[in-house]
Amino acid sequence: MTQKVQIIIDGKTVDLPVLEASNGLNVVDVRELISEGIYTYDPGFLSTAACDSSVTYIDGDNGVLLYRGYPIEQLANQSSHLEVCFLLLNGELPSQTQLSSFEQEIQSRMPVDDHLQHIFEGFTEHSHPMSMLCAAVGGLASLYHDGLDIYNADHRRETALNLIAKIPTLAAMTYRKTKGEAFLAPDPSLNYAENFLHMCFGKEGERPNVSPTIAHAVDQIFILHADHEQNASTSTVRMAGSTEANPYAVMSAGIAALWGPSHGGANEAVLDMLGEIADESRIEEYVEKAKDKDDPFRLMGFGHRVYKNFDPRATVMQESCHAVLNELGVDDPLLRIAQKLERIAREQDYFIERKLYPNIDFYSGITLKAIGIPTSMFTAIFTLGRMPGWITHWDEMLSAPFKIARPRQLFLGPGKRDYTDIKIRNVDENLRSH
Ligand code: CMC
Repeated sequence: MTQKVQIIIDGKTVDLPVLEASNGLNVVDVRELISEGIYTYDPGFLSTAACDSSVTYIDGDNGVLLYRGYPIEQLANQSSHLEVCFLLLNGELPSQTQLSSFEQEIQSRMPVDDHLQHIFEGFTEHSHPMSMLCAAVGGLASLYHDGLDIYNADHRRETALNLIAKIPTLAAMTYRKTKGEAFLAPDPSLNYAENFLHMCFGKEGERPNVSPTIAHAVDQIFILHADHEQNASTSTVRMAGSTEANPYAVMSAGIAALWGPSHGGANEAVLDMLGEIADESRIEEYVEKAKDKDDPFRLMGFGHRVYKNFDPRATVMQESCHAVLNELGVDDPLLRIAQKLERIAREQDYFIERKLYPNIDFYSGITLKAIGIPTSMFTAIFTLGRMPGWITHWDEMLSAPFKIARPRQLFLGPGKRDYTDIKIRNVDENLRSH
């Protein structure tokens, strides 16, 4: 049945069409409202679908996450990251021949041009990996700009392959820069996750020596992060991309958005928080801080804009975390603090009423720490995983007609007023103190 929504503006009834979703909530199409002289208002996009998309579906009430229809649990346990990249980009799972050729195409693009390597000379060992990644991925625009036609599907595919191939190399370079070690080139005998770990931790002149268990856990982390529909960084990519900017610069904008502790930076913040709690006896004090409205502290790794029951990625991540810790024989006191913190928080009315559950970042950080990855690299790994999602959304937007993203505002500032000469200006007391 075709639905419509009626609104009454100053006594005039306006019919707004409802667009039918293939799955999930339908959408009121408000595009014609401007002709009635009124905007819609939705800071933080709590009630706004900013685009249409066929890539990823989330049912936050029931903890469902589907990439192109496939449940995240099945992909995380049965697939590989490059197979998921193929699925996101092409809409369907590959045949064995298609997958092998895709893996080959990625493998051959993993090395990074010598010129770009010099970008890292502008950084120090104390530079944050995310600041280096923003610069290095944006810097790729200087190598791939002239002749790049974003309206040509073949050029977009080449861009996607290039970014998925080079992001592990660049992320590993940021790590080695912080260690003051020379960069290691990718090794064609290794798979995607193995290559990343080798480029981070390998020794110059020595044969690669990567644990399959650890490589599998890292590959699973990449899959779990690969896409998450219109989150803040993906929306940033769509917004920057809507200006027709160079896609490498557009991805750099996505990386900047991901870095924040409310988004991808949360995995790093979780470990910082657990380290600050330091002892199981202090957990309740921190839970009380999180509940205190006068204290800005939040439990990092808890809560989600969309998941109001559980985060299915967190469930897979928790299982993987235990498997990695058992395999490596790691008895991490921070994991004990994390488990007790989760139990105590989930018993509290504050968290139950607000539907605040552990999200993926709560357990991914502990897994990465057990693997030996330093905290400052956690969000870089999230970036690596999310790259296929960003590039798929950018490609989806450019494959169909789109408009530059240009929101309006509810203006609350002063109306027109005349400039006064500084000698006779009546300065407000509040301003005088600045
Ligand atoms: N600790 C304590 N209180 C919280 C938390 C938290 N982690 N998260 C939300 N709240 C409270 C918040 O104070 C508010 O309370 P009230 O209704 O009394 O004002 C209520 O819950 C709703 O919070 P909100 O900020 O309006 O919710 P949001 O949808 O705008 O924010 C969020 C979602 C993820 C930014 C937020 O839950 C948060 O800051 N969590 C901690 C950071 C984090 O773990 N981020 C990673 C998200 S998952 C990775 C990703 O996909 O990016």
